[in-house]
Amino acid sequence: MERRTATGTSYALVRPEDVMSVAVDDGIADRLEVAVYAGREQGAIHLESAVATLAPGGTIGGHIHPFEESFYVLQGRGFITIADTSYQLRTGDFGFAPLAHPHAWSNPFDEPLRWLRTRSPQPRPIGENQGSFAFSELAPPSSGRAIDVESVGQRFVGHFDDSQVPPPGPLSMPGYHGYNIRNVSVRMMVDELLGAQHHTLFIVEFIPSTVPGMSAKEHFHPFEETYFFTAGAAEGLIGGESVSVTAGDLVFAGVNTSHGYTNEGDVPVRWIEAQAPAPPPAHGTIFEADWLALET
Ligand SMILES: [Fe+2]
Repeated sequence: MERRTATGTSYALVRPEDVMSVAVDDGIADRLEVAVYAGREQGAIHLESAVATLAPGGTIGGHIHPFEESFYVLQGRGFITIADTSYQLRTGDFGFAPLAHPHAWSNPFDEPLRWLRTRSPQPRPIGENQGSFAFSELAPPSSGRAIDVESVGQRFVGHFDDSQVPPPGPLSMPGYHGYNIRNVSVRMMVDELLGAQHHTLFIVEFIPSTVPGMSAKEHFHPFEETYFFTAGAAEGLIGGESVSVTAGDLVFAGVNTSHGYTNEGDVPVRWIEAQAPAPPPAHGTIFEADWLALET
Protein backbone atom coordinates (compact mmCIF):
# COMPACT_ATOMS: atom_id res chain seq x y z
CA MET A 1 0.00 0.00 0.00
CA GLU A 2 0.93 3.61 -0.43
CA ARG A 3 3.07 5.10 2.31
CA ARG A 4 3.22 8.82 2.90
CA THR A 5 6.54 10.42 3.82
CA ALA A 6 7.07 13.32 6.21
CA THR A 7 7.13 15.72 3.24
CA GLY A 8 3.85 14.40 1.83
CA THR A 9 5.33 12.42 -1.03
CA SER A 10 4.59 8.75 -1.50
CA TYR A 11 6.30 5.44 -1.99
CA ALA A 12 5.55 1.73 -1.70
CA LEU A 13 7.56 -1.36 -0.89
CA VAL A 14 5.81 -4.32 -2.47
CA ARG A 15 6.82 -7.92 -1.83
CA PRO A 16 5.50 -10.82 -3.93
CA GLU A 17 3.37 -12.11 -1.05
CA ASP A 18 1.59 -8.71 -0.86
CA VAL A 19 0.36 -8.96 -4.43
CA MET A 20 -2.63 -10.86 -5.74
CA SER A 21 -2.54 -12.27 -9.26
CA VAL A 22 -5.94 -11.68 -10.84
CA ALA A 23 -7.35 -13.41 -13.92
CA VAL A 24 -8.12 -10.87 -16.63
CA ASP A 25 -11.67 -11.12 -17.91
CA ASP A 26 -11.92 -8.48 -20.61
CA GLY A 27 -13.03 -10.45 -23.66
CA ILE A 28 -9.55 -9.93 -25.20
CA ALA A 29 -7.24 -12.12 -23.07
CA ASP A 30 -7.57 -15.84 -22.38
CA ARG A 31 -5.59 -17.44 -19.51
CA LEU A 32 -3.86 -14.17 -18.57
CA GLU A 33 -3.20 -13.25 -14.93
CA VAL A 34 -1.92 -9.88 -13.82
CA ALA A 35 -0.41 -8.93 -10.47
CA VAL A 36 -0.24 -5.14 -10.10
CA TYR A 37 2.76 -4.07 -8.01
CA ALA A 38 2.48 -0.31 -8.45
CA GLY A 39 -0.55 1.64 -9.54
CA ARG A 40 -3.16 3.95 -8.11
CA GLU A 41 -3.34 2.03 -4.81
CA GLN A 42 0.38 2.49 -4.24
CA GLY A 43 0.17 6.23 -4.93
CA ALA A 44 1.33 6.18 -8.56
CA ILE A 45 -0.29 8.58 -11.00
CA HIS A 46 2.01 8.31 -14.05
CA LEU A 47 2.60 4.58 -14.40
CA GLU A 48 1.36 1.11 -13.62
CA SER A 49 3.80 -1.74 -13.02
CA ALA A 50 2.68 -5.37 -13.00
CA VAL A 51 3.83 -8.94 -13.52
CA ALA A 52 1.74 -10.60 -16.22
CA THR A 53 1.53 -14.37 -16.68
CA LEU A 54 0.12 -16.02 -19.79
CA ALA A 55 -0.53 -19.70 -19.09
CA PRO A 56 0.27 -22.43 -21.65
CA GLY A 57 -2.29 -22.21 -24.44
CA GLY A 58 -3.15 -18.63 -23.48
CA THR A 59 -3.64 -15.74 -25.88
CA ILE A 60 -4.17 -12.00 -25.83
CA GLY A 61 -6.10 -10.95 -28.90
CA GLY A 62 -5.22 -7.86 -30.92
CA HIS A 63 -5.92 -4.65 -29.03
CA ILE A 64 -4.92 -1.01 -28.75
CA HIS A 65 -4.87 1.48 -25.91
CA PRO A 66 -4.14 5.14 -25.20
CA PHE A 67 -0.92 4.39 -23.28
CA GLU A 68 2.49 2.85 -23.97
CA GLU A 69 3.11 -0.66 -22.71
CA SER A 70 6.58 -2.10 -22.26
CA PHE A 71 7.61 -5.62 -21.37
CA TYR A 72 10.63 -7.50 -20.11
CA VAL A 73 10.35 -11.29 -20.34
CA LEU A 74 11.17 -12.84 -16.95
CA GLN A 75 10.43 -16.46 -17.81
CA GLY A 76 9.12 -18.74 -20.53
CA ARG A 77 8.52 -18.45 -24.23
CA GLY A 78 5.78 -17.07 -26.44
CA PHE A 79 5.01 -14.88 -29.41
CA ILE A 80 4.08 -11.23 -29.76
CA THR A 81 2.96 -9.21 -32.74
CA ILE A 82 3.52 -5.46 -32.57
CA ALA A 83 2.11 -3.48 -35.48
CA ASP A 84 2.87 -5.74 -38.46
CA THR A 85 5.77 -7.87 -37.20
CA SER A 86 5.68 -11.05 -35.07
CA TYR A 87 8.50 -12.10 -32.75
CA GLN A 88 9.31 -15.20 -30.74
CA LEU A 89 9.94 -14.30 -27.11
CA ARG A 90 12.44 -15.74 -24.61
CA THR A 91 13.81 -14.64 -21.25
CA GLY A 92 15.62 -11.31 -21.55
CA ASP A 93 13.61 -10.03 -24.50
CA PHE A 94 12.10 -6.60 -24.06
CA GLY A 95 10.08 -4.15 -26.07
CA PHE A 96 7.06 -1.96 -26.10
CA ALA A 97 3.87 -1.24 -27.95
CA PRO A 98 3.57 2.44 -28.77
CA LEU A 99 0.33 4.17 -27.97
CA ALA A 100 -2.47 3.08 -30.34
CA HIS A 101 -0.30 0.40 -32.04
CA PRO A 102 -2.13 -2.94 -32.33
CA HIS A 103 -0.43 -5.85 -30.55
CA ALA A 104 -1.29 -9.45 -29.65
CA TRP A 105 0.33 -12.26 -27.64
CA SER A 106 0.28 -16.05 -27.53
CA ASN A 107 1.85 -18.83 -25.52
CA PRO A 108 1.62 -22.17 -27.38
CA PHE A 109 4.44 -23.62 -25.23
CA ASP A 110 4.14 -25.81 -22.15
CA GLU A 111 5.36 -23.42 -19.44
CA PRO A 112 3.98 -20.04 -18.36
CA LEU A 113 5.20 -16.89 -20.10
CA ARG A 114 5.87 -14.22 -17.48
CA TRP A 115 6.86 -10.62 -18.02
CA LEU A 116 7.24 -7.34 -16.21
CA ARG A 117 4.67 -4.98 -17.69
CA THR A 118 4.88 -1.20 -17.43
CA ARG A 119 2.19 1.12 -18.70
CA SER A 120 2.39 4.88 -19.00
CA PRO A 121 0.53 7.24 -19.02
CA GLN A 122 -1.23 5.35 -16.24
CA PRO A 123 -4.34 3.58 -17.61
CA ARG A 124 -7.56 5.24 -16.59
CA PRO A 125 -11.00 3.85 -17.13
CA ILE A 126 -12.37 4.58 -20.59
CA GLY A 127 -15.21 2.19 -21.18
CA GLU A 128 -15.12 -1.13 -19.37
CA ASN A 129 -11.53 -2.34 -19.85
CA GLN A 130 -9.26 0.31 -18.37
CA GLY A 131 -8.89 1.82 -21.82
CA SER A 132 -7.99 -1.35 -23.79
CA PHE A 133 -9.96 -1.84 -27.00
CA ALA A 134 -10.14 -4.96 -29.14
CA PHE A 135 -8.51 -4.74 -32.56
CA SER A 136 -9.97 -7.85 -34.13
CA GLU A 137 -8.06 -7.55 -37.43
CA LEU A 138 -4.97 -8.72 -35.53
CA ALA A 139 -5.04 -12.37 -34.36
CA PRO A 140 -2.67 -13.86 -31.74
CA PRO A 141 0.53 -14.97 -33.53
CA SER A 142 1.47 -18.61 -34.11
CA SER A 143 5.05 -17.93 -35.22
CA GLY A 144 7.60 -15.12 -35.20
CA ARG A 145 11.22 -14.15 -35.81
CA ALA A 146 13.79 -14.41 -33.03
CA ILE A 147 14.79 -11.13 -31.42
CA ASP A 148 18.46 -10.31 -31.98
CA VAL A 149 20.57 -8.10 -29.76
CA GLU A 150 20.59 -5.68 -32.65
CA SER A 151 18.93 -5.93 -36.05
CA VAL A 152 17.75 -3.40 -38.58
CA GLY A 153 14.75 -5.62 -39.32
CA GLN A 154 13.13 -5.29 -35.91
CA ARG A 155 11.23 -2.41 -34.35
CA PHE A 156 10.09 -1.78 -30.79
CA VAL A 157 11.99 -4.81 -29.39
CA GLY A 158 15.44 -5.90 -28.22
CA HIS A 159 17.25 -8.52 -26.18
CA PHE A 160 19.26 -8.22 -22.98
CA ASP A 161 21.84 -10.65 -21.68
CA ASP A 162 24.54 -10.43 -19.04
CA SER A 163 27.28 -9.68 -21.57
CA GLN A 164 25.70 -6.25 -22.06
CA VAL A 165 26.27 -5.04 -18.49
CA PRO A 166 28.90 -2.29 -18.85
CA PRO A 167 31.78 -1.93 -16.35
CA PRO A 168 30.61 -0.13 -13.18
CA GLY A 169 31.32 3.58 -12.91
CA PRO A 170 29.68 6.91 -12.19
CA LEU A 171 26.14 7.26 -13.49
CA SER A 172 25.78 8.67 -16.98
CA MET A 173 22.26 8.83 -18.33
CA PRO A 174 19.72 11.39 -19.51
CA GLY A 175 19.09 13.81 -16.67
CA TYR A 176 22.33 13.26 -14.75
CA HIS A 177 26.06 12.62 -15.22
CA GLY A 178 28.12 12.51 -12.06
CA TYR A 179 29.69 10.91 -9.05
CA ASN A 180 26.77 11.03 -6.61
CA ILE A 181 25.81 7.64 -8.01
CA ARG A 182 28.78 5.33 -8.48
CA ASN A 183 29.66 1.65 -8.79
CA VAL A 184 26.72 1.47 -11.17
CA SER A 185 26.11 -0.18 -14.54
CA VAL A 186 23.13 0.91 -16.60
CA ARG A 187 21.82 -0.73 -19.76
CA MET A 188 18.96 1.20 -21.38
CA MET A 189 16.25 -0.95 -22.96
CA VAL A 190 13.04 0.97 -23.69
CA ASP A 191 13.66 4.67 -24.27
CA GLU A 192 13.27 7.28 -26.98
CA LEU A 193 15.83 5.49 -29.17
CA LEU A 194 13.36 2.59 -29.34
CA GLY A 195 10.52 5.08 -29.91
CA ALA A 196 9.07 5.40 -26.40
CA GLN A 197 7.75 8.83 -25.47
CA HIS A 198 6.23 8.41 -22.03
CA HIS A 199 8.54 6.13 -20.06
CA THR A 200 11.90 4.41 -19.93
CA LEU A 201 12.90 0.87 -18.91
CA PHE A 202 16.46 -0.18 -18.12
CA ILE A 203 18.70 -2.56 -16.18
CA VAL A 204 20.63 -1.23 -13.18
CA GLU A 205 23.38 -3.12 -11.41
CA PHE A 206 25.42 -2.03 -8.39
CA ILE A 207 28.55 -3.89 -7.38
CA PRO A 208 29.11 -4.23 -3.62
CA SER A 209 30.02 -0.85 -2.10
CA THR A 210 33.74 -0.34 -1.62
CA VAL A 211 32.89 2.57 0.66
CA PRO A 212 29.75 1.90 2.74
CA GLY A 213 26.91 4.23 1.87
CA MET A 214 28.35 5.29 -1.46
CA SER A 215 26.30 3.55 -4.13
CA ALA A 216 23.47 5.98 -4.89
CA LYS A 217 23.23 9.02 -2.65
CA GLU A 218 19.74 10.13 -1.69
CA HIS A 219 18.04 12.01 -4.47
CA PHE A 220 14.64 12.73 -5.93
CA HIS A 221 13.07 13.24 -9.35
CA PRO A 222 10.28 15.15 -11.09
CA PHE A 223 9.01 11.73 -12.30
CA GLU A 224 8.02 8.38 -10.78
CA GLU A 225 10.30 5.36 -10.58
CA THR A 226 9.84 1.63 -10.01
CA TYR A 227 12.64 -0.79 -9.14
CA PHE A 228 11.90 -4.49 -9.66
CA PHE A 229 14.73 -6.42 -8.00
CA THR A 230 15.94 -9.48 -9.91
CA ALA A 231 19.20 -10.43 -8.13
CA GLY A 232 21.08 -9.72 -4.92
CA ALA A 233 19.88 -7.43 -2.14
CA ALA A 234 20.14 -3.75 -1.21
CA GLU A 235 19.60 -1.42 1.69
CA GLY A 236 17.42 1.52 0.73
CA LEU A 237 16.54 4.81 2.32
CA ILE A 238 13.15 5.71 0.83
CA GLY A 239 11.37 8.83 1.99
CA GLY A 240 13.59 8.83 5.07
CA GLU A 241 12.71 5.22 6.00
CA SER A 242 15.13 2.29 5.88
CA VAL A 243 14.09 -0.70 3.81
CA SER A 244 15.82 -3.97 2.96
CA VAL A 245 14.98 -5.27 -0.48
CA THR A 246 15.77 -8.49 -2.23
CA ALA A 247 15.06 -10.26 -5.52
CA GLY A 248 11.32 -10.37 -6.22
CA ASP A 249 10.51 -7.11 -4.42
CA LEU A 250 9.43 -3.90 -6.10
CA VAL A 251 9.85 -0.38 -4.77
CA PHE A 252 7.76 2.48 -6.10
CA ALA A 253 9.00 6.03 -5.51
CA GLY A 254 6.64 8.89 -6.30
CA VAL A 255 7.53 12.32 -7.66
CA ASN A 256 9.91 14.10 -5.24
CA THR A 257 10.24 11.08 -2.91
CA SER A 258 13.87 10.92 -1.80
CA HIS A 259 15.62 7.58 -2.25
CA GLY A 260 19.07 6.08 -2.19
CA TYR A 261 20.49 2.57 -2.22
CA THR A 262 23.61 0.86 -1.02
CA ASN A 263 24.79 -2.65 -1.73
CA GLU A 264 26.33 -3.94 1.49
CA GLY A 265 26.32 -7.55 0.27
CA ASP A 266 28.95 -9.66 -1.47
CA VAL A 267 27.25 -9.96 -4.85
CA PRO A 268 25.91 -7.41 -7.32
CA VAL A 269 22.36 -6.20 -6.85
CA ARG A 270 20.35 -5.86 -10.04
CA TRP A 271 16.96 -4.39 -10.79
CA ILE A 272 14.78 -3.43 -13.73
CA GLU A 273 13.89 0.23 -13.42
CA ALA A 274 11.14 2.26 -15.04
CA GLN A 275 10.73 6.02 -15.08
CA ALA A 276 7.56 7.89 -16.06
CA PRO A 277 7.11 10.44 -17.48
CA ALA A 278 10.36 10.14 -19.44
CA PRO A 279 13.07 12.23 -17.71
CA PRO A 280 13.98 15.71 -18.96
CA PRO A 281 17.37 15.86 -20.73
CA ALA A 282 18.90 17.72 -17.76
CA HIS A 283 18.12 18.20 -14.07
CA GLY A 284 16.19 14.95 -13.86
CA THR A 285 17.98 13.95 -10.64
CA ILE A 286 18.29 16.28 -7.67
CA PHE A 287 20.60 15.56 -4.75
CA GLU A 288 19.44 17.15 -1.52
CA ALA A 289 22.95 17.02 -0.01
CA ASP A 290 24.36 19.16 -2.83
CA TRP A 291 21.86 21.91 -2.02
CA LEU A 292 22.16 21.59 1.75
CA ALA A 293 25.91 22.13 1.37
CA LEU A 294 25.11 25.72 0.33
CA GLU A 295 23.93 26.41 3.87
CA THR A 296 27.31 25.71 5.44
FE1 LIG B 1 16.36 7.56 -8.68
